[in-house]
This record gives sequence, C-alpha cells and structure tokens, in this order.
Amino acid sequence: MCGIVGYLGPTPAASVLLSELKCLEYRGYDSAGVAMIENGQLMVLKTAGKLANLENLLNEKSPGATWGIGHTRWATHGIPNDQNAHPHTDCTGTIALVHNGIIENYDLLRDELIATGHTFHSETDTEVASHLIEEEYKNAEGDMILAIRQAAKRLKGAYALGIVSPAHPEIIYAVNQHYSLAVGIGDGECFLASDSVAVRQYTNKVIRLEQSEIAQITMHGVRLFSFEGDEVTRRPQVLDMNPMIMDKQGYRHYLHKEIHEQPIILRQTLSKYLANCDKPLDLSPAHMTFAPESIDLDPSNYGVSFTDQELRSVERVSVVACGTAYHAGLVGKYIIEELCGIPVDVEIASEIRGRRMLVNNKTLAIAVSQSGETADTIAALSEAKANGAFTLGITNRPDSHLARVTSNLIVTECGIEVSVAATKTFVAQVACFYLLAIYLAEKRGTIDLQKAKALKLDLLRVPSLQEKVLASEEYIKEKAVQYSEAKAVVFIGRGLSYPIALEGALKLKELSYIHASGYAAGELKHGPIAVLDSQMPVITILIPGSVYDKTLSNAQEAKARHAKMIAVAQESDPEAKKTFETILPIPAVSEFLSPMVSVLPLQLFSYFVADYLGKDVDQPRNLAKSVTVE
Ligand code: M6R
Repeated sequence: MCGIVGYLGPTPAASVLLSELKCLEYRGYDSAGVAMIENGQLMVLKTAGKLANLENLLNEKSPGATWGIGHTRWATHGIPNDQNAHPHTDCTGTIALVHNGIIENYDLLRDELIATGHTFHSETDTEVASHLIEEEYKNAEGDMILAIRQAAKRLKGAYALGIVSPAHPEIIYAVNQHYSLAVGIGDGECFLASDSVAVRQYTNKVIRLEQSEIAQITMHGVRLFSFEGDEVTRRPQVLDMNPMIMDKQGYRHYLHKEIHEQPIILRQTLSKYLANCDKPLDLSPAHMTFAPESIDLDPSNYGVSFTDQELRSVERVSVVACGTAYHAGLVGKYIIEELCGIPVDVEIASEIRGRRMLVNNKTLAIAVSQSGETADTIAALSEAKANGAFTLGITNRPDSHLARVTSNLIVTECGIEVSVAATKTFVAQVACFYLLAIYLAEKRGTIDLQKAKALKLDLLRVPSLQEKVLASEEYIKEKAVQYSEAKAVVFIGRGLSYPIALEGALKLKELSYIHASGYAAGELKHGPIAVLDSQMPVITILIPGSVYDKTLSNAQEAKARHAKMIAVAQESDPEAKKTFETILPIPAVSEFLSPMVSVLPLQLFSYFVADYLGKDVDQPRNLAKSVTVE
C-alpha cells in the first residue's frame, strides 16, 4: 500500500528518495511522486504507473535539491492517475504533502474548505490535509508545528503525513495518527519512512513516531511533539542490519526465492525452541532471539509472558487475521483444538467491525499478520483487548504496529517477505501455531511427555520433507504449463487440508489471475459441483489419515463429472494413481503435520502458471503487501 519517504542531507535528494521508494515497491502501488525544494522553489514531480516513470521524470529535470519527500500511492479515493498521485499541494503552492491511510471526514472538510475559497485539483482524501494546514497556517504566525497540530486534530481516521514547505527551509514535518512512521538518523542526514525497510540501506538508527505525534526533522536530528504541543523525548532504536534482506540471490523472482527459503526458515523457527525435545517448550521472553529484521526494543516486549494460572484459565481461543494469515489461523484451530481441547474460532478480521465481539478475560485472542500492519487485524485485536481478552500476536515484523498493540508476541524467523503473495510467512505462522499448541498443551497437562517429545521430533523432520517437494519443481513446472489454459480451478481438502485448499486457490488467483475457489471437500456436493465439467481442473489435497477415504470419495464425485483430476498426494499412493491424471508429489508425512508440506506444491504450481502466463509474479496487479486501510 502507500509508502512515505523523506530525505534531508548533503546528497541530492532525488536519488535517495528514489532508492527509498524502491525499497517500498514490494508493498504494492500504482503511482508515485516526490516534492523537493531547491533555491526556495517547490518542485513536485508525480506520475501514474511504476517507479521507472518517476525515474524518467527525475532524469529529465535532474534536480539538485538535497531535501524532499516522496510517495508511492495505492489508490483508495480516486483512480490511479497523475493528478491523484501524491504529493498534493495547497492553494499557495508552498505546502506539499504525502499521505498514508484514510482521512475519514475528508468530504465534510473538503466542502468546508471549498466554501472558504480553496480550489482542489484531485479526487483524493489527501488533498484536504494540505488545504487545512494552509488554512491553519494563516493564524499560526509562521509556526508550522502549530498549524499542523491544529489541522491534525481535525483529521479523523488513521493516517501518516510527510510535509515540506519552502517557507521552512531544510525541515521535513511528519505526523503519525494510528499509523507507522519512522525517522532514520544518519551522520548529518535524516530520513523519513513509513517502513523502516526503506532506511536500512543508510542507517541503523530509527526513532519511531507514536500515536498523535508530530516530528520536526532537520539534518541534525528530530524533535517530537504531541498534538497538544508538548515536546516528547525518545531515544533512537538500533536496527539489526541484514544485507540479505532485499536480494533475489540468483532467483528471477522474490517469490521463487521465498518458496525455496521455507525449509531454512522452518529450521530456524523450530531450532529456536526445540533444542531440547525432552523438556517442555519455553516461549517466554527470556527465550526469544530476534528475527533478522528485528530491532533492539526491550526483549521483555516479545515472547509469551502469560502466567501458568492465566494459561490454565483460557476457555476459548479467538484468532483474527486476513488472507493467507487467516488460512494459517484455520490450521491453528485444528492444531490447538486437537492438542489442547480448547475451542478455537477463527475470524476474518474485517468481519469483526460493526458487531459484538464475544470475548472476555478467559479468551486468548491471537492476531496473525506477516506485516503486522494490517488495519483490519489490528482493529480486531484492539477490540478483543478492550473486551478483556489476553492478546498475542504472531508476526514477521517485531517493529510493526501489531507489536505495539499486543503485549505478547511470537516473532516468526522469516526475514522480510518481498513478494506480495505470502508463502514463507504462511509456513512460519503455521509452525508457530504448532509450537504454541504444544506449549499450551504442556502447560495445561493435555499432552503427555512422550507424545510431546515425539511430536517435536517429527516437527524437526518437516524441513527435509519440504526439500523433497522443492526437488520435484521441474515436474511441477511441466504440469503447471499443461494446465495454464484453465479458465477456473477448484481446490478441495478436508480437515487440515481444507485451509490448504483455500490457500492454494488464493495463491493461484492472486498470481495468475485465474479464478480459483477452495472448498471443504465435503461441501462440493452442496453446490460447487455444479461448475464442474471436462474443462475444469479440480485439485484435491489427499493425505493418508482420518479423512483420507472421505476425501477420495469427494474426488470421485468430481471425476464422475469429467473434471480434470489433479492431486497433491504421495506418488506411491495406489488409490491416487488410479483416481488422478496428475499427481503433484509430496513425501510421506503425518496428517497432523501435513499443511507445512502440502502447501508447497501448490505455491510452486501457482508460481509456474503465473510466470508462464507472463504475469508480474512479485507484484500482482491491484494487490498490496501491507494492507493498511480497513
Ligand atoms: O500482512 P498480513 O499477513 O496481515 O496480510 C494479510 C493479507 O493481506 C495477505 O495474507 C494477503 O492475502 C496476501 N496477498 C496473500 O498472499
């Protein structure tokens, strides 16, 4: 989604802003722009489309400015075009502003500002902010902080702003209201970024803006103010610099690289906790290490710090998440219910809005989010917290908004996922659910020591099973090409394979734009079977175990309708060989641990279909990596 950057220092700002913006490309965007000030003149360059278009504009003008702000926009209000791209200016052309989030009362403010003589040039909600600051500035006697404070208090919603004005040389102003914004502190230079990923190439020191804060940034540092005007002091945090972060490491696409990273990541996540399989798990803060992208916040903020008494008092688990993270939550439901005997409900986070959330002080609310910035998920967890639930986050980003909302956090050991389609973060989230379920089961006495030990040892074997799937990728590629003409694809699975059917369908549609739906296999006959014919591929996830026979029967129902029959199954499975024309092979794996293996052939299948069809696999159309609007 939208990204904000800024730079102030000795270097030409254009190249720094562009390189910061490139780091945010993975979040998804449809237009981009910069505002820089040179010789007291404001220069705004913005354009629809990819950053290459902005780069061309910058090359034409080759500005020498050493101070400016930049933005990548993901359209919410108004189509993606040059006018709606950020930055936006006021009527005097002396205030330029970039914005993330949504200004909920923009309509009202726009009418009011038009009535007082302001002229608007875009359809965005953003533009009201620049005119409102202009209006407040008239009465602020040159005090820009005062004007911004007064304006910020009138803007409703969750948002972040970056602002420059030639009237205030060599200063960038920034505003954070329920959003994410960080200032990078360099040596005689400062940076602004909505995602610290953008500043890591320049500095490892950042100051994060908290809620309702305004920053005044100069080359030499930053001053922070509350919306009430009180000055706030905060020490910089030190980022863990990881040179491997944004590197394709020889792969053509980040997505392909990230699919291949899964065994390593799983090993890292598991080895953090399972060094001694004879002992109960310890997910407490003292045990936590930091993920590659983590920052040195107080470690007591991370890990599970519930008392044993609290853990024993939990009567219900409520998981909130979106998209792929929601599917990880559905896997989590099966695992926790099986090992701990606690009922688990999994909610699409956006569905919590506008209704009663039935949680209380005996509920463990878990938010799952790779980015830790998903507005729907954070809102749902905040609601659960307000209703007295214990809260826990599972995320890839310990420096995220989610980390600040919850006091318990399990950090997955993934590094940053650059491809918009989630793959490695899904497997890591699922792994955390296994660890959490074992931890809860041991604390609540619902698993005996021998069973727990056997399960931990089995978990440690999963990465090598994943490696076997990855080794068969040439065959999966051949099959992906064979089915790439499909107009739609149906995925079915039962039990722990049902969330994998949903995830397989989501991956295929977001990467290849082929319509795909995932169903509980038993549901096929209750409606979806109507869409089956000889042109329709049906992909069945068929794992030996408690629901094997019933899944096979459901697949037979599809076969009887002449569907093209594909399975994710063990190659040696005689029934699978008889039933399916194509098997996407997986090695023998226990039903209970199968999701971390069976999802891999589906990720590869979707990747190869999309690549064969010439799609932008790392940045599929219309999608954003970090979905920061509700
Ligand atoms: O950052 P989050 O995990 O909270 O994101 C949730 C979804 O937006 C995300 O999983 C989305 O569905 C991905 N594009 C899936 O590949």
